[in-house]
Amino acid sequence: MSDVLGYNNANVVITGAASGMGQAAAQLLVDLGARVYALDIAEVSVPVERAIKVDMSDTANIDAAVAELPADIYALFNCAGVPAPPFSMEDCVLINFTGLRYLTESLLDRIPEGGAIASIASTAGMGWKPNLDTVREFLALDNSHAAARQWLAENGKRVQDGYGFSKQCIIVYTMSQAAELAQRGIRINCIAPSPTDSGFMTKLKGEGQIPDEAVELFLPPNGRYASGADMGEPLVLLNSRLAGFVSGNNLPVDFGYTAQVVMGQRDDLIGIA
Ligand SMILES: NC(=O)c1ccc[n+]([C@@H]2O[C@H](COP(=O)([O-])OP(=O)(O)OC[C@H]3O[C@@H](n4cnc5c(N)ncnc54)[C@H](O)[C@@H]3O)[C@@H](O)[C@H]2O)c1
Repeated sequence: MSDVLGYNNANVVITGAASGMGQAAAQLLVDLGARVYALDIAEVSVPVERAIKVDMSDTANIDAAVAELPADIYALFNCAGVPAPPFSMEDCVLINFTGLRYLTESLLDRIPEGGAIASIASTAGMGWKPNLDTVREFLALDNSHAAARQWLAENGKRVQDGYGFSKQCIIVYTMSQAAELAQRGIRINCIAPSPTDSGFMTKLKGEGQIPDEAVELFLPPNGRYASGADMGEPLVLLNSRLAGFVSGNNLPVDFGYTAQVVMGQRDDLIGIA
């Protein structure tokens, strides 16, 4: 088979590969012949080249993992993430965004021209426009967990929804970095999944005690929960050679939910339009 996606024998790094969307993407990448380096706090079952334990809420942990990674990386997949509740607002932002940014910027010099970065944001982050000033203030901080932790301690009241804020940060960060990375021939994108059956959803509804009805408000027009593969596959496509002129986008992967909201066919619950 010809390697139209460009992954055969390529080094790729993926976080969150132990479960859900990241697991589905990691398996697909292995099937496509990539050398997959998987970073996760949990055990990774996909037969990857190398699985490295890392806690994305911790700078030193990420530094130790980065030291184990190869010198050239064709694609980075940022999939690790947690819901809040049950995680605290602070932990959620530190894992979902600060860790993602720290890892991305630690690896940037290893990504050659033609390489790409794809992250998982969320429908929950798509109300970033009304909150842009706060997000920009947070993004202007030093790229460190210490600086983020201090800002969150001082500004917790302005954040409140830690999960939504962490995903707004991913979307704004992705769009903000695109121009500079384009000068180096590197692409950066993210996806915004609608509700998906995964470890995340189990935690959100179980330990987080979020009722089914609250989640169902965000289901696509077909009323279906997505699978991990429904999200992992477009992520693999976005980082592939086939999407070689696509950068700076947040792609809603929601079977028409965002379109419905933007067209005024459905309530805009979080300020997407
Ligand atoms: N499931 C949904 O409905 C949904 C919707 C929109 C966005 N998302 C996002 O999708 C991404 C993937 O989540 P999923 O739904 O596949 O859930 P999941 O729980 O199945 O997978 C998340 C992965 O992240 C890992 N992880 C958690 N904390 C970590 C840490 N501190 N350090 C390193 N790894 C850590 C977990 O071990 C797991 O392998 C997350 O960023 C999540 O926020 C999920």
